[in-house]
Amino acid sequence: MYLQRRNRILRKSPAIRSMIAETRLSPDDFIVPLFIDEGAGIKTEIPSMPGYYRNSLDNTVKEVKELWSMGLKSVLLFIKCSDELKDNTGKEAWNSDGLMQRSIKAIKDAVPEMLVMTDVALDPYSSYGHDGIVENGQIVNDITVEALVKMSVSHAQSGADFVAPSDMMDGRIGAIRKGLEGSGFSNTGIMSYSAKYASCFYGPFRDALDSAPGFGDKKTYQMDYSNRVEAIRETLMDVEEGADIVMVKPALSYLDIIREVKNSVSVPVSAYNISGEYAMIKAAAKMGWINEEKAIMETLTSIKRAGADLIATYFAKDAVRILG
Ligand code: PBG
Repeated sequence: MYLQRRNRILRKSPAIRSMIAETRLSPDDFIVPLFIDEGAGIKTEIPSMPGYYRNSLDNTVKEVKELWSMGLKSVLLFIKCSDELKDNTGKEAWNSDGLMQRSIKAIKDAVPEMLVMTDVALDPYSSYGHDGIVENGQIVNDITVEALVKMSVSHAQSGADFVAPSDMMDGRIGAIRKGLEGSGFSNTGIMSYSAKYASCFYGPFRDALDSAPGFGDKKTYQMDYSNRVEAIRETLMDVEEGADIVMVKPALSYLDIIREVKNSVSVPVSAYNISGEYAMIKAAAKMGWINEEKAIMETLTSIKRAGADLIATYFAKDAVRILG
């Protein structure tokens, strides 16, 4: 058989395959989410996220030093707020001596070059477990945005490099940008969760922070997974309002959205490989049904290939180890 072109020539050995690989992972790609708890000496495994932990601040600082030594350059902080501090205003979120604020300072003191990004949303602080302030069973947009601005400024004051609003209220990026500028934090960046879908795959995360909504669901603010064009509208508005980095979340069921966003904006695009996506790989690997390391690398490569410049992932350390 005579063939003018044989595509298998470029697949015939590991050497040629690695030379022509179009997508390569590197430690620079990853943002490491960290769950932080009050107390000292605490390291609690999250039952639905085997191998992932909620650490007290002392252990978190140790972890951050290790991450930096591995070449990981960015952490995304989430804190577990104790129940007695939760209310419907979310005011613990901008307590200058709150766990988040103390964590930002401690991490920046210990590893000043580590980029510290902080989750901005009221759910861990809300007695209702919602991302906004509740009135008559509704999540009210505009007063929530005011709260998110206070929260963002307080994170900036504590030394955060980027605030990462994950709440999906309308107009919050512009308001946060204005708030940061107005308070003298013109160097603080915004990584916006621009296209965040109402997803069942957040379940394990809500276990980690005890932040599941107390009533209803998040469908009046997070996006409907049927929609694609809407993701572009949301993202373009966030860029217009001043987002430095945009995000698609979750990642795996939304690879088409990541690509479409990548083709539509000229700012860096991140994707969040979320808790449920982590849990599925861990569970299948535990059953012996898939090879964990291969599944991790194939998954992360697919997210980057789809168009993500940055990937927030609970697999960051594993990936760096596997990359060698
Ligand atoms: C809170 C927030 C959530 C996640 C990140 N920030 C949960 C939610 O919206 O209910 C999910 C992360 C994950 O599942 O890994 N606004």
